[in-house]
Amino acid sequence: DKGEFKHYMLKEIYEQPDAVARTIEMALDNNETSKLRDDFLQRYETQLAGIRHVQILACGTSYHSGLVAKYWFESLIRVPCSVEVASEFRYRNPVVVDNCLVICISQSGETADTLSALRDIQKQTPAGLVSLALCNVPTSSLVRETDIFLPTLAGPEIGVASTKAFTTQLAALMLLVLKVGVIQQRVTGERLTTLIGELQQLPGQLYASLNLDAPIKTMSEHFEDKKSCLFLGRGLQFPIALEGALKLKEISYIHAEGYAAGELKHGPLALVDKDMPIVVLAPKDSMFDKLKANMQEVHARHGELFVFASEASQMVAEDRLHVVYVPEVCEVLAPIVYSVPVQLLSYHVAVMRGTDVDQPRNLAKSVTVE
Ligand code: F6R
Repeated sequence: DKGEFKHYMLKEIYEQPDAVARTIEMALDNNETSKLRDDFLQRYETQLAGIRHVQILACGTSYHSGLVAKYWFESLIRVPCSVEVASEFRYRNPVVVDNCLVICISQSGETADTLSALRDIQKQTPAGLVSLALCNVPTSSLVRETDIFLPTLAGPEIGVASTKAFTTQLAALMLLVLKVGVIQQRVTGERLTTLIGELQQLPGQLYASLNLDAPIKTMSEHFEDKKSCLFLGRGLQFPIALEGALKLKEISYIHAEGYAAGELKHGPLALVDKDMPIVVLAPKDSMFDKLKANMQEVHARHGELFVFASEASQMVAEDRLHVVYVPEVCEVLAPIVYSVPVQLLSYHVAVMRGTDVDQPRNLAKSVTVE
């Protein structure tokens, strides 16, 4: 039931604060502020203590959450992590090193390529293999075929375009990174306390980000007649740029590409002209100054910038520069909060263009054939 909402997608965007709060509660008590719950993944502690490498496999939006997790695994707890779309991984005879944690990320748990990639690894039987399903459907094939089930407590996702499954995947991945980090003593003391404190603020920040609905709807009017669009981000926001572009193309049918902003000069800058909208994910983080230089390059070539920024960055709107301020959030968790404005943008563009938002043409919710 869509209730008061016009589409399931919009309803599911609005469910994100609660869905993420439920997911976080798997590992965090309300009253215990500085440590993970003892019972979180407790049965698997011995297995997780032994892993030395992480291999993430997924498709589409779930692949993008894996890309964020790679940054987290490596920068926060120094565990090497590879991420690949399952449809490529399974056909290239890949090496799976010993003591590997294979994480399959899938909303449905029935995606054919993801399942096949997992089965291929299991056939190779590398030493110390641990497999984990990060999945929204407890009864799925993926959950049955893996050692560990880490649920995303998003509730059923009906809209074909994935929204709350994505943000709950990110929240659960952060919990997993912390769990592995704690078990292997790679994150301790104040660093851990701070990260946990920041996670507890996340549902509130997501809730506040829903207030962007009205300004983003206004912004979306600039996209109605566009043929093509770029999404730019750096660091943790690069995967969100990819996700923003995927959302826009799948529901509004506008061609869109996500790019690491540092790659602009290596090709896509040639596309920029006054008809090219460029969406930029620009929190005030360690990459902001570099990103600002990238924005100036685009602006100088008359591209029209649509920037999701932190108020702290003091970016102000001017000619061909539109700014929407996103609620303050720490750098590490910013990709979760910045997912909301890109979802809302593609939603409003699609509604304006009159597409079938919940059932985009040619797409199915669960891709059970390759
Ligand atoms: C995009 C979308 C798809 C899915 C992909 C994987 O909005 O929904 O890209 O993310 O088909 O599906 P799951 O996560 O069920 O394996």
